[in-house]
This record gives sequence, C-alpha cells and structure tokens, in this order.
Amino acid sequence: MRQLPPGFVFGAATAAYQIEGAALTDGRRDSIWDAFCRVPGAVVAGDNGLVACDHYHRYPQDVALMASLGLDAYRFSISWARVVPDDAAVNPAGLAFYDRLVDALLEAGIRPWPTLYHWDLPQAREELGGWPARETAERFVEYALAVHGALGDRLDTWTTFNEPWCSSFLSYTAGAHAPGRMSPSDGVAAGHHLLLAHGLAARELKAAGAAQVGITLNLAPVRALRPADPGDADAARRIDGQFNRFFLDPLFRGEYADDLRTDLAPFGLDEVVLPGDLELIRGSADFLGVNYYHGETVSVLPPEVPLSQEAPTTRATRSPYPAADGIHWHPTGAATTAMGWEIEPAGLTELLGRLQREYAGPAGIPMYVTENGAAFEDAVADDGSVADAERASFLVAHLDAVADAIEAGADVRGYFYWSLLDNFEWAWGYEKRFGLVRVDYATQARTLKDSALAYRDAIAAARRAG
Ligand code: NOJ
Repeated sequence: MRQLPPGFVFGAATAAYQIEGAALTDGRRDSIWDAFCRVPGAVVAGDNGLVACDHYHRYPQDVALMASLGLDAYRFSISWARVVPDDAAVNPAGLAFYDRLVDALLEAGIRPWPTLYHWDLPQAREELGGWPARETAERFVEYALAVHGALGDRLDTWTTFNEPWCSSFLSYTAGAHAPGRMSPSDGVAAGHHLLLAHGLAARELKAAGAAQVGITLNLAPVRALRPADPGDADAARRIDGQFNRFFLDPLFRGEYADDLRTDLAPFGLDEVVLPGDLELIRGSADFLGVNYYHGETVSVLPPEVPLSQEAPTTRATRSPYPAADGIHWHPTGAATTAMGWEIEPAGLTELLGRLQREYAGPAGIPMYVTENGAAFEDAVADDGSVADAERASFLVAHLDAVADAIEAGADVRGYFYWSLLDNFEWAWGYEKRFGLVRVDYATQARTLKDSALAYRDAIAAARRAG
C-alpha cells in the first residue's frame, strides 16, 4: 500500500437505521424508513430496520471490534426519530443511547464522527410536509442543537447531512427511497431545503461552540461517452449539474449555476430559493465529506449492452433527474460489485482532483473520504474465516487512489470504509453485504472478514511508516 500523510484518519462508517434496530425501544417512533418498509414492494424481501444488527444493544461489542482493527475514528449517524420522536419534545432516553456510545468510543480511543441526518426523517415531520417544506429546515436546527447540548462537551467535529442528493432527488423525485414520492419539483425543493438546513445548523452549532461543522456529499465524475459529440457533452453537463453541482455550487460559490437554473426552472428551483439563502449556505462547511462509489458515463445514444444495475424492487420508480430526457447511462466495461457498480478507483482520484481545483481547494478546506466500499457475496467457511479477497483489494485500490490524489495536491485527511458491519442496504434490504464484519442476522454473530484484517494491517503499516 502507498504511503498516506501522518495523522491521516482511518475509519469505518455506518448509519443509524441501517444497524441500530431497537426501532420501538426507549421512546423511538417511526422514521420515514419504518413507514416505507411497510409499503408493498418497496424493499427487497419486505425487509426492515426493526432489528437490523441490533447495534443499539450490542454497541460495546461493536466498539471492541473497531478497536481490534485499530480504527482512528468511527462515523455513525444519530436518529432524529429517537431524539425528537413525534416532531415535538426531545426524548432524553433516545439521546442517552448516543451518550453511552460516545463514551464507549472515547474510552476505546476512537474518535466519534457523528452525522446528524442519514435519511431517517421522523415520519411525523414527513406528514407535516417533509423536506419539500421549508419549515423542516428549522426543525432540523432545533434537533441539531438538542444533540449538541447533550454531546457537545465531548465532540468537536459534526456532520450535518449524509448524501443530500439521496434525501432529495432519490427520495422525493425517483421514489426509490423513503418517503417514496415521485415529483420532480418536490426533489428540487427538498434539495434546496437540505442545503438551507445545513447552512442554518452550521451557523447555530458554531455559535453553540462546535469546533467544525461539515457536510458529506455523494459525488462522482460524470463523463460523456463521446466527449467530442455535442449531444453527449451536454448530457454530461446536465447530469453533473443535477448530481454534483446542485450541492457544490451553493456551498462553495453561493450560487446555482446558470445552466442548472435553466434546466431546473420548470421544476420550481427559482421559487424555493429565497433572498439570503445562498449567502447563508456559502462557506458554511468547514470540511467536505466525499462519498464515492463509481463514475457515470452518459450519452444521448442508448447502450448496446445495458448497465447490469437492476432496480431492486417491483415498486415503480422514475428517474431521479428532473431534466434528463434522452440521456442514457453506459457501462465502461469495468468489473462490477454485487450492486452492479463499476469498480473504478481512478474515478476517486479524478473526483478529488476536481474538488481540490474547483471547490474545497479555493475555499481552503480539507476533504475526507467519508464513504467508499463494496458489496460482494461472502460466506463464513468451516474454519470460521470469511475469504473476501475482492473487497480487500477494492479497499486497498481505493486507498491507493486517495494517495494518488494527495500526491497530486488534494488535501484529503481521512478515509472511512463503508461499512463496518453488513447491514440494511435500504431498498435492497439485507441482501447486499458491504461489511468488513460479517453479520449473521439469525444469531447476530459477528465475524471479521479477511478485508477487515487487510484494513487492520494497512492501518498498522501506515502508523509504522508515519
Ligand atoms: C451511501 C449511503 O450513505 C449508505 O447509507 C449506503 O448504504 C451506501 N452508500 C451503499 O449504498
């Protein structure tokens, strides 16, 4: 493995709904994911997060696993539906879980890296309008301050949102994620209100004493199949706009670019952006979290061989892109993971380079790869081992890709593998396994996979070299 700078943070990530379970414990109420899991056909095999990895009860064991790998940091999320269950009063019993978790992490010498929102909006808030309603941004700030009030004495680094593109366009436009709405204008409104909520919360959290407040975006290089073809180049521009620049431009430049405004004008973008919003959002991130899985190749031509990525469920969905008529996605020929996602470590180097040049670099803020990982099928062998060589080489190849980006000048300070544990992979249910640790859902037994051991060794080697 290539060398990474001294102080580089090695971590692993999870999210509340995907691992905690205990969905009805200590006053927690439905989030939009609990409700969505009850919609026929919405989630593979009708799976849900009622029990998940039972991390709510088994967190001491999970923290011990992290320590055995030598992780510097653990990225997890806090469940709004536990903390403010009915969109009303704060629930101290819900907050107390995170109190225990943070203490256990600190005791094990692992830096807690909390995210305030990883997709589990309280269902009560959805019924009052959800993210397309501007008021949800204000409720988010109240929730964020309640969490800060309980944990702020022990935490310095906060992340507001995980992948707001998913919480807006995938959830309110495509209908593929909770709450399953299929409206282009709801997706646009949700996206803007998530950015607004980030800006408002960052301001208030800093005022309350938070040292650093960042945001995590899912980002990807978007390439034209035939770069010299004007139609393909325009397709790449449109998708880059609706996937990457929708979030990056307001955060780093205080604007939605003119071309994106034109593309999204029919879907109400101009109406939801009120005076003062963009000024508030601009410069509101102290660091940028980057989640990277694969690149996108687009064209106005349909592919000869379609992408192997199938839709998980039988429930109808639509495109998450409001303005993507006539655009098609093409395979590059690269090998794929069990998700059908192409394995492209060089795409991570390319992405980090662009972010350094155009966004984080000019703003003078660092980046962290807050997610990167792969689903592969694996199994526990008779000798108790899990031979997942593909996942191990995926991980090492992407760490090398980060090293390449740093060598080329990108200020990247850490890498979090997704995920620590096999877990509830949203609409795919428990079928897809991303974990370094195998979870047997019938017994809740945890088994370190070979990839976990490879990561442990890579971390140890980096420490020795540093
Ligand atoms: C992105 C999300 O943040 C996470 O929740 C999800 O499980 C992984 N990617 C894999 O799809």
